[in-house]
Amino acid sequence: MDSTARKSEPLLRVEGLSLSYQRGDGRLSVLEQIEFEVEEREFLALVGPSGCGKTTLLKLIAGLEQPTAGQIHLAGNPVKRPSRSVGFVFQEPTLMDWRTVEANVTLPLELNGGNRKRAREEAQTLLDLVRLTGFEDAYPAQLSGGMAQRVALARALVHDPQLLLLDEPFGALDALTRERMGRELLRIWQARRKTVVMVTHSVPEAVLLADRVLVLGPRPASIIAEVPVDLPRPRTAEMRETPACSQVARRVRDALEQVDLH
Ligand SMILES: Nc1ncnc2c1ncn2[C@@H]1O[C@H](COP(=O)(O)OP(=O)(O)O)[C@@H](O)[C@H]1O
Ligand SMILES: [Mg+2]
Repeated sequence: MDSTARKSEPLLRVEGLSLSYQRGDGRLSVLEQIEFEVEEREFLALVGPSGCGKTTLLKLIAGLEQPTAGQIHLAGNPVKRPSRSVGFVFQEPTLMDWRTVEANVTLPLELNGGNRKRAREEAQTLLDLVRLTGFEDAYPAQLSGGMAQRVALARALVHDPQLLLLDEPFGALDALTRERMGRELLRIWQARRKTVVMVTHSVPEAVLLADRVLVLGPRPASIIAEVPVDLPRPRTAEMRETPACSQVARRVRDALEQVDLH
């Protein structure tokens, strides 16, 4: 190997990404020149003011929206349309009310015309992973908010995606459930060795879960700060009280406050 050997390709590479929507006779610029990379198995958190374009950014990465400019590469390939390599957990669980928990998880496999028995086995493995064993035959209306989000997480994992996108997945949950879900997510992230990009509006959550936090500015959003989280793993809730953790959280908050002043 010569000394000029380049760093290996990141799992996700976002370059010069801009998006504007047609609105009336004008255009609404939502994202402007977004650039970042995510390494394989990294846990990246995105924070930013409400309405700045975080969900739009995740949709672009998932191939659900097309950029006005710039490009996105996943494992070296340009993202043009949704693919099985990306799992998405939306802000709302978006489960099918008329399907059981298990049938919600197997749905993406059925849509692909997969073997039904295999699909049920895979769903069982994932429901065990998200600790919903025994709820296979329940309907969404019978679940708590936290349980419904865990079903959505199991569904997002069903194609064994390389990249997991989470859009404020715990936003609607009470504080205690939220903390427990954070711990569960870390456990799953470690067990499945996934790469995660998570949008959250909770600074403590971002710091406790992520390897790095990107702070987005107001619309049109660009990245205004990048804060590495050099805290040891495994992370525990008690770490929140440590000076190292507070220091990282302060850096993120300072960046967000700069935004508010504009
Ligand atoms: N399909 C769309 N057409 C037009 N405007 C949209 C569309 N989707 C989102 N927007 C607008 O883009 C901006 C960013 O939205 P969003 O990405 O949902 O923000 P965030 O997730 O950060 O709260 C908002 O002003 C929103 O109204
Ligand atoms: Mg959003």
